[in-house]
Amino acid sequence: MKLIYFFCIFLLTSSSWSFARKSNQKNNAQLYQVQLTYRNISTKKCYALGKIKTQHLEAVDNLSKRGEIPLSKRAASPQAIGAVNYGNDVEWISQIYMGTPPQPFLVVFDTASSDLWVPSIDCYDCNNKRLFDYGKSSTYQENDDDFSITYSDGSSSYGSMEMDTLKVGSMTIKKQQFAMIYDMSSSFQTDVIDGIMGCGYDSLSVYPGTLTPLTNMYNQGLIPQRIFSVQLRPIRNKTTYGGIFIFGGTDSRLYKGTITYAPVTTRNFWQIAIDAVVYNGNNIFTSSTRNKQQIIVDTGTALMILGTSVVKSLHTSIKGKYVSSSNTWQVPCNLNSNTKVAIKINGVSLAINYQDLVREKVSSGSSWCYSGIGSTDSSIWILGGTFMKNYYVIFDREKNQVGFATPVYAY
Ligand SMILES: *[C@@H]1O[C@H](CO)[C@@H](O)[C@H](O)[C@H]1NC(C)=O
Ligand SMILES: *[C@@H]1O[C@H](CO)[C@@H](O)[C@H](O)[C@H]1NC(C)=O
Ligand SMILES: *[C@@H]1O[C@H](CO)[C@@H](O)[C@H](O)[C@H]1NC(C)=O
Repeated sequence: MKLIYFFCIFLLTSSSWSFARKSNQKNNAQLYQVQLTYRNISTKKCYALGKIKTQHLEAVDNLSKRGEIPLSKRAASPQAIGAVNYGNDVEWISQIYMGTPPQPFLVVFDTASSDLWVPSIDCYDCNNKRLFDYGKSSTYQENDDDFSITYSDGSSSYGSMEMDTLKVGSMTIKKQQFAMIYDMSSSFQTDVIDGIMGCGYDSLSVYPGTLTPLTNMYNQGLIPQRIFSVQLRPIRNKTTYGGIFIFGGTDSRLYKGTITYAPVTTRNFWQIAIDAVVYNGNNIFTSSTRNKQQIIVDTGTALMILGTSVVKSLHTSIKGKYVSSSNTWQVPCNLNSNTKVAIKINGVSLAINYQDLVREKVSSGSSWCYSGIGSTDSSIWILGGTFMKNYYVIFDREKNQVGFATPVYAY
């Protein structure tokens, strides 16, 4: 399935796919076969693959309800929302609510798109999803303009623009524009999530003039500044929550040391420039000073995606290989801690844990594993999960910069 290259709109349409869809690989049942994912209509509970168990959803819900740092009446505070790590670091999923009374949906908070959508009760191919029943919402406002979005992996959804109250954690956002979906591509039909909540710049929205939830949170005084910060936590750390999103600022308990900032170069995606790609202390790619390599920081893509020639030299160095029949990059499963890959940003080398370069075995018993790094021929690269799960990442629209710090899993 398509979770590896994911919610990043219009960027990589002509790129080569480096991490193929694997729904036909029986040995990768856990990660790639989502048919176990369904919503039990009679119990109204969502089950998924044993990875999102009911109690995990409850944990997300509890964390949201507690708000970790409660809203004060006088000064708005940052708000923490939990996420569930789905399918071994493939997706980090959170729960939001639409309407009054609130109806729950599972979404990815996606930094590489800016639209919010959930399936409509009138959808004709969303059967295993939670469906938004607008007739039961007293705050629903009809608009009905056409909405259509296509992500870089080809997945898409179609519907109409509407407005209603959105709840994210303990925050109630009024008059949030969103799309109600009537028709979604097959990859979304089999995906565990119901919808997507875009966290990019407003200008990236496919429906012009739409304000993202973050902008509305700020405009409505729910958060003190247009900043959110993210910990995507890897399975290897065995933490209580799969991830944490803090809306409104940073939580000093969640990182240590200094924050490395990079200015946003184009305000659509969270796009920044990198200095170099470093392998064992040597630059295997160096940006030209006048025209630095552009990269987007993307919570909706599981892998790190770099240019084809860089990915080729990296895999040569780590004795990996490209397998053209499956269009995948592969690495030895027993890669060791001497394998040091880093991305240099603003003069600082930001390391990636070697374990994140190794994904699932290509088949059971094989000593080859899929690589955590994929390749693209697009001029813009992607810092997805492989990289992000090593850092506490700060998305700052006040100063238009992205920050990276060493994470601490305080809660
Ligand atoms: C849905 O839940 C009901 C009630 O618990 C149960 O009887 C039924 O088997 C479940 N359906 C599926 C497909 O698991
Ligand atoms: C969520 O909160 C409820 C009520 O406080 C509690 O009973 C339940 O155990 C909590 N669930 C988890 C997974 O923390
Ligand atoms: C997460 O686990 C890795 C080992 O896999 C360890 O090096 C790192 O310190 C852990 N991170 C935190 C924040 O505990």
